[in-house]
Amino acid sequence: MDTVIASEPPLLATEGIAKRFGNIRALQGVDFSVCAGQIAAIVGDNGSGKTTFIKILSGNLRPDSGTIWIQGVSHAFLTPKQSLAAGISTVYQDLSLDDYRDVAANIFLGEELTYGGLFLRKKEMTRIAGDLIRDLNIGIPDITLPVGSFSGGQRQAVAVARAVYHGKKLVIFDEPTAAMGVRESAAVLRLIRSLAQKHMAIIIICHNLHQVYEVADQVSIMRHGKILQTTSTADTPLEQLQQMIIDADEVD
Ligand SMILES: Nc1ncnc2c1ncn2[C@@H]1O[C@H](COP(=O)(O)OP(=O)(O)OP(=O)(O)O)[C@@H](O)[C@H]1O
Ligand SMILES: [Mg+2]
Repeated sequence: MDTVIASEPPLLATEGIAKRFGNIRALQGVDFSVCAGQIAAIVGDNGSGKTTFIKILSGNLRPDSGTIWIQGVSHAFLTPKQSLAAGISTVYQDLSLDDYRDVAANIFLGEELTYGGLFLRKKEMTRIAGDLIRDLNIGIPDITLPVGSFSGGQRQAVAVARAVYHGKKLVIFDEPTAAMGVRESAAVLRLIRSLAQKHMAIIIICHNLHQVYEVADQVSIMRHGKILQTTSTADTPLEQLQQMIIDADEVD
């Protein structure tokens, strides 16, 4: 197995993470790591366990076994609060937006800015939300409308803005560009690069290998709940990675 040489200890690492849903063995011992300033991609077939794995990192699922290390501290599982407190935020594949509320309400969901815990700082939240959406360079004509009225790509932009606002050390993107056009995808990929330049760690799950190669430093192939191989994008041409994925198929 190729090893990606890291210059500093990983911000986050896992060893032997396993998770079953009844008879389905969704994860069968996932070993993974990502360092600050690094963009780590996870690719793999539908149902290979990618979303299950990141839900464990965000504290929304508890693993059956294995260890999660955050900056050298080991955990058997994380709660959503612990994950957020560790500076981890996630753009979920299903986006997890409140369709009936506007952009600012979705970005600050559960963490609203208030005056002394009593009154909402609505204007300030709307201003911050507007700035985040503008930085993303994704057209949303009116951010005060309920997000349920938005297009798929616009909704994805709101989820990305929320994760960027809350993420302090690690931002996880589960197929962030799946519903986006070419221009919007490029804007999100640019944003991901700029986060890494600010020394944040990034995990991106993405089916589009060209997009993976545009941003990622390392790429892990997931199959049947395991990471088969992790390789550096600088050392492995895209065609070679494609071949590795096909070869992994044939091993089955
Ligand atoms: N809550 C759940 N209950 C039962 N089975 C589940 C649950 N969540 C995931 N699974 C199963 O676990 C396996 C891994 O699913 P997961 O969503 O992690 O895959 P994925 O790699 O993210 O796929 P995709 O590329 O389609 O998003 C699948 O077989 C799925 O059906
Ligand atoms: Mg998924």
